[in-house]
Amino acid sequence: MPEGDKTTGCEGAPRHVAIIMDGNGRWAQSRGRPRLFGHHAGAKRVREIVETCPDLGVKYLTVFAFSTENWKRTQTEVAGLMSLFRRYITKEARALRDEGVRVRFIGDRVRLDAKLIALMDELELLTQENTRVHLTIALNYGSRDEVARAIKRMAQDVARGDLSAEDVDESTLTRYLDTRVLPDPDLVVRTSGEARISNFLLWQSAYAEYEFIDTLWPDFTADIFEGLVRDYARRDRRFGAVKA
Ligand code: FPP
Repeated sequence: MPEGDKTTGCEGAPRHVAIIMDGNGRWAQSRGRPRLFGHHAGAKRVREIVETCPDLGVKYLTVFAFSTENWKRTQTEVAGLMSLFRRYITKEARALRDEGVRVRFIGDRVRLDAKLIALMDELELLTQENTRVHLTIALNYGSRDEVARAIKRMAQDVARGDLSAEDVDESTLTRYLDTRVLPDPDLVVRTSGEARISNFLLWQSAYAEYEFIDTLWPDFTADIFEGLVRDYARRDRRFGAVKA
């Protein structure tokens, strides 16, 4: 194992944590600042949390950066977020690579601009050899949209004769999802006091544990993250079975 791949870890830590990073707008507004100020503060938190993952034994981190529904926000906010994503990728690329982070994007790229798509491709390529921690950024992602796109491709494969309808089962759909190479999330966290899933990893989180916490995303610290990971480690997951 390369030196950089060693993790200390918390016993029983979730292998995959998925986070709905909510509350940027309220955080900014409470300071009398525009909503984008909150998104910029939120972006900084992502790096900080990714960096703590190896020490805690969390191998996969997936963050919800922009949903298929977020296009309904004002043009100023959407354009500001897209510009933030471009800047974030450009600015963070080397550090992410050097820290052993493998970055992937999930979501539908069709509505994203060509420059952003090119940067996403470059970052995926740049970090493709990394294995220390896997960061997945959900961008123009919606779970229902993902499932619909997967079923469409599955139907096309059936029509071409590359897939038999008889053979379709749960694992087939899993293989057509954007998340095909990721394990299912063990823990899903939503910040900002809202107890909703908002179309995030619905299929994949069927047996996940959930944590809804009041902290607004820009106030989410490594210590809070560690506390959630340790709480998870104490939980008893049965996946529908009864304990022997
Ligand atoms: C939800 O808060 C947050 C978003 C829609 C954007 C999330 C984006 C980031 C954290 C920054 C960029 C991330 C990366 C990976 C570069 P909200 O705006 O709905 O907050 P509110 O509920 O208080 O209005």
